[in-house]
Amino acid sequence: MIYHGLKGITCIETAISHIDGQNGKLIYRGYDVKELVQKQTFEETAYLLWYGSLPNSQQLHQLSEQFKSNRKLPTYVKKMIHSLPVNMDMMSVIRTTISSMGNNNMTWKPTIDQAITLTALMPSIIGYRKSVLENKSFDENAAKELNHVEYYLFMLTGAVPPKVHVEALETYMLLTLEHGLNASTFSARVTASTESDMVSSLTSAIGTMKGPLHGGAPMGVISLLDEIAASQSAIKVISEKVMNGERLMGFGHRVYKTKDPRAISLKKVLLQMLGEDQWLDLAIDIEETAISVLNKLKPGRSLYTNVEFYAAAIMKAIDMPPALFTPTFTASRVVGWTAHILEQSENNVLFRPQSRYTGETIKQ
Ligand code: SDX
Repeated sequence: MIYHGLKGITCIETAISHIDGQNGKLIYRGYDVKELVQKQTFEETAYLLWYGSLPNSQQLHQLSEQFKSNRKLPTYVKKMIHSLPVNMDMMSVIRTTISSMGNNNMTWKPTIDQAITLTALMPSIIGYRKSVLENKSFDENAAKELNHVEYYLFMLTGAVPPKVHVEALETYMLLTLEHGLNASTFSARVTASTESDMVSSLTSAIGTMKGPLHGGAPMGVISLLDEIAASQSAIKVISEKVMNGERLMGFGHRVYKTKDPRAISLKKVLLQMLGEDQWLDLAIDIEETAISVLNKLKPGRSLYTNVEFYAAAIMKAIDMPPALFTPTFTASRVVGWTAHILEQSENNVLFRPQSRYTGETIKQ
């Protein structure tokens, strides 16, 4: 039996997260993300994923200080970022830069300290590259006391961010920190299973995240909404796409066969944040139209909204440039990836599935 795309195959046990695809639930280390997003910060939830329990105040202070003391880019990395082609996309910049990290002395055995350092560096890589392209510089001392999410927005704008933007981005990043054995996490664990190092495993994950079927969807959502806004009929545009075999970005999921709970949480934040907003109203209308068209034209596939649909709306609401949508997803998912790399190294079995040969028989 061939399981294309390993559909429906369970190949690991994990204590990190659980996805209930039928009932639309996502659990991080025993906590429902719907609860976590109300009460915890990005840093508290990152601690939970890495260490297995929520931090006390001293542990949280220590993690915050570790983020702050590890966010400075090494000089060679700054020089590398300067030297990369101007037209290189940000995901390729992140993949190239992360792959240059680590060194010969990096023991293959991944550590939580490596995970924290690489997570702390993500906003610096993305922000520094953006400042180089815009020929801007700003005083990073002004960001010294900012927490991880505030620092990320500071690195993108050069200014201390408005609270409402921090809250919206923190919600998005907390909801996308971790999501079981998605394609990029699977890539990370396969690389880690050969006893390769944390940096190589992360490089595999970043390359996998880049694809539009995985992390690259929010930009597709924006173009879908813009196309529909410009047309007279959402039903007509959506039906034509689906009948032509096109994928509606932001819909469908390998595991969720009902609405993605992260989309529901993001929609709630957007309604609180924006209230009456024409673009959001359009998005909400289109969501319901798309679901009804999809399930009429594709009966039995259970195609519903996934996280990316309202992720696009959150990014637009905080003025995040579309080219940074997937990089922002990457800046949060690095926590889930590193948690899985650590778990793989604790109880490792090499991934090596079989393949069925359909080539020619041996020539005499
Ligand atoms: C993420 O895995 C994760 O956990 C990922 C993620 C995470 O946090 O890591 O949740 C993040 O990747 C969310 C998904 C973002 N991608 C998109 O929104 C792109 C659009 N979605 C689809 O490409 C698709 O739904 C996938 C890739 C997400 C899942 O596809 P599957 O499970 O492999 O299903 P499939 O491709 O076998 O499709 C089954 C049927 C097909 O029709 P038939 O050939 O049976 O007639 O459903 C159709 C598909 O054509 N279908 C869609 C569709 N998704 C599936 N048709 C139109 N629009 C869609 N979005």
